[in-house]
Amino acid sequence: MHKKMIAGNWKMNCGQSATSDFINKLEDLLESDETGKRSSKAIESELIEIVIAPPFTSIGAAVAARRSEKINISAQNVHYEPKGAFTGEISLGMLEEAGCKYVIIGHSERRHVFGETNELLERKLVATLESKVLPIFCVGELLADREAGRTETVLRQQLEAAWLSLTSDVVAEMLVVAYEPVWAIGTGKTASDKDADDACGFIRELAQEKFGAATADALRVLYGGSVKPENSAGILAQKNIDGLLIGGASLDVDSFTKIITTSV
Ligand code: 13P
Repeated sequence: MHKKMIAGNWKMNCGQSATSDFINKLEDLLESDETGKRSSKAIESELIEIVIAPPFTSIGAAVAARRSEKINISAQNVHYEPKGAFTGEISLGMLEEAGCKYVIIGHSERRHVFGETNELLERKLVATLESKVLPIFCVGELLADREAGRTETVLRQQLEAAWLSLTSDVVAEMLVVAYEPVWAIGTGKTASDKDADDACGFIRELAQEKFGAATADALRVLYGGSVKPENSAGILAQKNIDGLLIGGASLDVDSFTKIITTSV
């Protein structure tokens, strides 16, 4: 059984003081009542892994606020070059030094609002896999793709471009893929449990085609898109889904905690 990942992508929300308050409260909740303590045990026995991805300027505050290593920190983006004249960008070495374990790559907002292409994202993914930071690589189709029956074609294009040069051991041990249908992000429209499971199963099939069955089994695949406490347990119970990437509901510490406590 895979370690389940419950990850909160805060996008452009929560400055330093809001971040410290959130981390303090989350740790308090994970130590308080029976459900909190049960989740803490599940974290300690590596059944679930908690990740928070604050904006760059709040990463230091998140790391400083932690009383334990129960909460892992992720960045939301990175540049593939180690240093140089790239105004506004942040390197993998900087993320590592700041205390990040993970980085989100290819979120649909990076693809569709900031125009990041499959080729650019491949460079980011390869650079990340050569660093000490682990990638959470996002894929997902637009509503128009889904309506035109092109979901699998889009997932294939995005993943085949991304893992062109990767080896099976790297994919099995280091890669996390997040399936986030763009039409379900921030819209309140969640994919049905079955649609989410089918798409995550298809991602596993693609991994099997390229890397073999053992790697496909080992690959961790998350679902994201309008996940909230009311639907999280149902999605997480699906065979092909190893975790959740949560936007809006991860900004409220009580809902995020509820998603964690109902996942164990
Ligand atoms: P919502 O949970 O707000 O739909 O956002 C999902 C997301 O984009 C997480 O990366």
